[in-house]
This record gives sequence, C-alpha cells and structure tokens, in this order.
Amino acid sequence: MIVGVCGSPRKKATEFVLTRALEMLEEMGFKTKFFTVRGKEIGFCQHCDYCLRHKICRLKDDMHELYGLLKDARGIILATPVYNGGVSAQLKAVMDRCRALVAADYNFFRGKIGMAISVGGDRIGGQELAIQQIHTFFILNGILPVSGGSFGANLGATFWSRDTLEGVKEDEEGFRSLRKTIRRFAEVLGNLGD
Ligand SMILES: Cc1cc2nc3c(=O)[nH]c(=O)nc-3n(C[C@H](O)[C@H](O)[C@H](O)COP(=O)(O)O)c2cc1C
Repeated sequence: MIVGVCGSPRKKATEFVLTRALEMLEEMGFKTKFFTVRGKEIGFCQHCDYCLRHKICRLKDDMHELYGLLKDARGIILATPVYNGGVSAQLKAVMDRCRALVAADYNFFRGKIGMAISVGGDRIGGQELAIQQIHTFFILNGILPVSGGSFGANLGATFWSRDTLEGVKEDEEGFRSLRKTIRRFAEVLGNLGD
C-alpha cells in the first residue's frame, strides 16, 4: 500500500496533484490511501519525550490515524505547498510527530520508499528546497527517496500553480515531472502490487 499525505490546509492545487498521483498508481495496480492535514487537528511535537518512555505520542489527535496508515505503507508520498521556500507548517508538524513512531520502533520507516511533490505559487518559488526538506526527512528515517531523474524531474514532482487550482491544472511541465517521478517510484517499489 502507498500512502499519500497532503500538507495543504486547502482543497486546491496540492490536493489535486496528489490525488492525480494516487490515481496514476492505482492504474498501475497499486493500492493507495490518501491522508490530508486539511480540517485535521495535528499538534506540534512538544519534545516532551513522553514517546521515548512510553513508545506512543502523548498528544491525542488526528495524527494517530496517519500513524496507522504509515505502518502499513511500503511507499510514502509527501506533497506540500511551498510556504516561505519550504514545506508547510502542517507537513512539518506531521514529520516531527513521526518521532514517536521511531521511538517505538527504530526501524519503523527503514526500507520504505518515498517521493515528494511540491507546489509553489511562483514559477521559481522554492519547490526544490521544499523537496529537499522532505528528502532529508526520508533519509534520516531510513526511507529511500526516489526522484524522477534528470531531464525534467530532477528531485521529484514540482508544480507552478500561480496560486490557483486552474493554474496548476495548466502546468504541463509539472505533470511531466509527476509522471516521470511516479514511473521511477513504481519501478523501485518493484511492482509488488501493494
Ligand atoms: C504562508 C504562505 C507562504 C507561501 N510561500 C511561498 C513561497 O515561498 N514560494 C511560492 O512559490 N509560493 C508560496 N506560497 C504560495 C503557495 O505555495 C501556492 O499558492 C500553492 O499553490 C498553495 O497550495 P494549495 O493550492 O494546495 O493550497 C505561499 C503561500 C502561503 C499561504
């Protein structure tokens, strides 16, 4: 199973693109699950270290739904709008809250495959910086990051939305980068089905 996590608080460009990515993977025979931060209560990590002692996060909120999905996932897609040249605060909160999973099981993420999608309002607005932030999260947790490769999708799928849903739908280059990244992601997942 592949889980796609949308880091936008809106039902706009990032959600549209991630949904399309999951549809592409379903068409290739993979099972997918969609999770969004939109409308969810996901608190910041408090660094209370409760998870180090009790192997579970002390905060009782919607992050626990995602914990379950991440456990079952072989592949993880993190999609974010670009906020100030990086990931959204909502996606950062998700990444930080994963500390509890690693506290419970050091190898929780090891061997899973990851890919990133970023959507900026500007043509050159920090999409690759946001992806690098996601890739850093992948690497330090033992998730293998996959990009679409050179000639079109260098670090992953990057979109220019012009701040609108209509804008992202017209971003042909963005969808090219998505197709290339999805192809590699599926290849690395080894076509094992789910
Ligand atoms: C707080 C904030 C910061 C933003 N910073 C950037 C930025 O650094 N670079 C950029 O290209 N777009 C920036 N944007 C624009 C969003 O990335 C863009 O509108 C994107 O399409 C939003 O995704 P969504 O439609 O899924 O909500 C910012 C938007 C907000 C709200």
